[in-house]
Amino acid sequence: MSSQSPTPARRVTVHELRRMKDAGEPIAVVTCYDATAARWVDAAGVDVVLVGDSLGMVVQGHDSTLPVTIDQMVYHCAAVKRGLARGSGRPHLVGDMPFGSYQASADEAVRAAARLVAEGGAEAVKLEGGAEYVDVVRRIVRAGVPVMGHLGLTPQSVHRMGGYVVQGKDSEKAAQILKDARALEAAGCYAVVLECVPAELARIVTSQLHVPTIGIGAGIHCDGQVLVLNDLLGMDASFKPRFVKHFASLGEAATAGVAAYVAEVRSRRFPDDAHAFHSPGVRLLPAPDDDDAGEEPKGGGVTGAPV
Ligand code: KIV
Repeated sequence: MSSQSPTPARRVTVHELRRMKDAGEPIAVVTCYDATAARWVDAAGVDVVLVGDSLGMVVQGHDSTLPVTIDQMVYHCAAVKRGLARGSGRPHLVGDMPFGSYQASADEAVRAAARLVAEGGAEAVKLEGGAEYVDVVRRIVRAGVPVMGHLGLTPQSVHRMGGYVVQGKDSEKAAQILKDARALEAAGCYAVVLECVPAELARIVTSQLHVPTIGIGAGIHCDGQVLVLNDLLGMDASFKPRFVKHFASLGEAATAGVAAYVAEVRSRRFPDDAHAFHSPGVRLLPAPDDDDAGEEPKGGGVTGAPV
């Protein structure tokens, strides 16, 4: 048997992602929001972990991503970072810029991006929008923070789009998305998410950009794919838009697990002896009579937390 320790995993950086595109190696991206999930996705070998503002819908239960704040994004990023710190150290961590954190000015955008990096531990940030955000992208990149773009269905613009609908279906809109993608690349984006656009359009954008495209509902031709962890694990069996594939049925497994627990509590089968603590040598003091009420407990009683 070899006494050598295993070769450390190669850290995924913006340069590594570019190399993967050039080498034709598909990039696996997953969105997650907490430390436990971060450890799962790292152990599964994902290349990039995105702490998406989709947490507004998935974790917080809102019907859009619009209420998510920069404080909440920083909080979740830091949790994911701590989870990843206990793993391979390989995945690249991206923090999403929430609605309102970058639209008003480039200065505010730089401040928000800096918080995701400094407090949240992100190695890059993602923001939604095209050519209208090139100045913001340039300023964040100039501050030293890599920026991932996001085109097509951009959930923060749900009201302008009139709903969560596929984008770029006619020639004019498709041409605009291609133009936006080129503008983002020229401004310094190191990757671009393409959400819910026709596969034909995603193929053209992917072939024309030097930086990787990451698709969600954008077909097979993108350089990488991203899905929300809760969606790909089937945590909500009823949520299954066309672009989501359930690779597991965790929602059903979770309900079955909790139902088994409830049944065992109600039938007094849980906790059994194997899940209880024992102290065979302990002798309980007699209960204090009324005259002693209010006195500090004396040594020998079981008063502390079990160990
Ligand atoms: O917020 C998010 O999770 C995202 C991905 C789905 C791309 O933006």
